[in-house]
Amino acid sequence: MEIKKRILKLKDEKNAVILAHNYQNAEIQEIADFIGDSLELARTAAKTKADIIVFCGVDFMAETAAVLNPDKLVLIPSKDARCPMAAQLPPEKVVEAKRSGCPFVIYVNSYAASKAEADICCTSANAAKVVESLDSDTVMLGPDANLAWFAARKTGKKVIAVPSHGYCYVHKAFRIEDVRNARSAHPDAKIIVHPECDPEVQIAADFVGSTSQMYRYAMESDAEKFVVGTEIGLIERMRREIEGKEFIPLRHTTCIEMKLNTLERIHDVLLNEKNVVKIDLEIADGARKAIRRMLEVA
Ligand code: 13P
Ligand code: SF4
Repeated sequence: MEIKKRILKLKDEKNAVILAHNYQNAEIQEIADFIGDSLELARTAAKTKADIIVFCGVDFMAETAAVLNPDKLVLIPSKDARCPMAAQLPPEKVVEAKRSGCPFVIYVNSYAASKAEADICCTSANAAKVVESLDSDTVMLGPDANLAWFAARKTGKKVIAVPSHGYCYVHKAFRIEDVRNARSAHPDAKIIVHPECDPEVQIAADFVGSTSQMYRYAMESDAEKFVVGTEIGLIERMRREIEGKEFIPLRHTTCIEMKLNTLERIHDVLLNEKNVVKIDLEIADGARKAIRRMLEVA
């Protein structure tokens, strides 16, 4: 039997659900029950009735699903699918920063242990809303410094990046020259980018948003051509699903970690119920507070 059919059969037998991020390869998105950005995936994980969640994304996303579902089995196809940005903010750094007395907003791209020390979580889709919701004109946000800049620009509040230069290597690759070149090569296109891009790239773009916000912008816009500044997986999804429009990468970038998940690995973890995402109870309790607070705000 073809591997996709075997996965779908196992999924039914075990009452499992497959959640996939926008950056996953086409063959994974094709068998997924839900595809989305980090916020949509967290919301979907929070309300699923399945017994098993196979999370096709990176470690922090699967951890978030596990924190929200302490009684379910959360499986990650590749244990090496680890977002390098999360490692840039160890829990001790959050504890140290909080001595200033300012609230700490933690980007979902972080470890559960770091979330447990923060006040509230955010994703790229709701960072501005979360910062706005806090009763303080100065807040701290990390680990992505560009997202901190984005939230400050949107809210007018002082947003201190912790650490000061946390970044995503995939989005750091985009240059202002890429935007200038795209403007002259495709004057009729809208340029849309992720808030993990550098400030000058964000300023020069027509729209800045999370992966799913970019998808919706492209669906709803009257424009027919889009230059997209994010990981290639989302651009390929847009090409497959949004008919009659053209999608051009601002620059071809790949998140190596996201691409470690494969159909073979999904089949293996589901069959053998392995690569279970386990989180220390105390850490999970702390992280859950920060995540739930975010879900209530935004
Ligand atoms: P989104 O939440 O916008 O999907 O982004 C996740 C991510 O890892 C971006 O690099
Ligand atoms: Fe992490 Fe960047 Fe990959 Fe997103 S694209 S998972 S932030 S390394």
